Amino acid sequence: MRAQVWIGHSMGPMYEESIRGEFTHQTDAFASAAVMSAAETLGALVELVPVEPEARWLEVACGPAAVSRALAARVGSIHGVDLTPAMVEKAAAAAEREGIANAEFSVGDATALDFEDAGFDGAVTRFSLHHIPAPQRVLAEMARVVRPGGWVIVGDHVTDADGDAAAWHEQIERLRDPSHWACLTPDRLQAMAEAAGLRLDLERLIPFDLDFDEWLQRGSGGPGAAELINRLLAEAPDTADCFRVVAAGEGRRLALHNCLTRWRV
Ligand SMILES: C[S@@+](CC[C@H](N)C(=O)[O-])C[C@H]1O[C@@H](n2cnc3c(N)ncnc32)[C@H](O)[C@@H]1O
Repeated sequence: MRAQVWIGHSMGPMYEESIRGEFTHQTDAFASAAVMSAAETLGALVELVPVEPEARWLEVACGPAAVSRALAARVGSIHGVDLTPAMVEKAAAAAEREGIANAEFSVGDATALDFEDAGFDGAVTRFSLHHIPAPQRVLAEMARVVRPGGWVIVGDHVTDADGDAAAWHEQIERLRDPSHWACLTPDRLQAMAEAAGLRLDLERLIPFDLDFDEWLQRGSGGPGAAELINRLLAEAPDTADCFRVVAAGEGRRLALHNCLTRWRV
């Protein structure tokens, strides 16, 4: 089944301003955060992309393009697209610095991709769906722009199926980054992808952790909301599993679950 094509809609200026404001604020800190190049978040995703020297790939919501730059050696070409111009500039500068000649980048909206149907062999997105009010549109667009038989790969951190745990998790995420929309559960992600006409090829749930205080400070809301977030952390529901903060030496680690899925179009 092919995905339905929607043309000419917009997520609206308030959403776009919120995302662009947040990720312009975060551009440098995000690009240098250790978690973005960890084996659990980057290596595990990249190895799902087949090594095919002629293949044309798309990275959706590429940010500073850690994924595109890591993929460039496995594929023929990679095009990264992101809503935040500062991120696109960062991505292009990093690729140029690294001498990557088969990557290009442009500003665009993941929910209305400016590409023809079936023009890519594969499309990938990482840590984007939880920022986007209509994640099913992103999956449908990725399915649309990939040829039949090609690949769609999605990586994102997920939330708990338990309602109390998921609501508590979202409160902390939104206080720390007001552009955060909602984390999905693995089941919800799967249902949306299937509705977009994708066929599941592989799913992996990979625990990973990161420096909680660096994460808190990086979000535009984090420093101001730190006191409330610390109170919320002390009231964690017993059922919370997908978002946990644990003491580690002098600091704190945030333990999350990375859901990696690979789909056939
Ligand atoms: C958490 S960052 C992830 C960046 C990159 N995918 C990575 O994993 O390193 C989220 C990115 O999604 C982008 N973004 C959010 N909504 C978007 C949309 N509707 N279309 C394109 N990009 C979007 C933001 O600008 C930001 O660069």
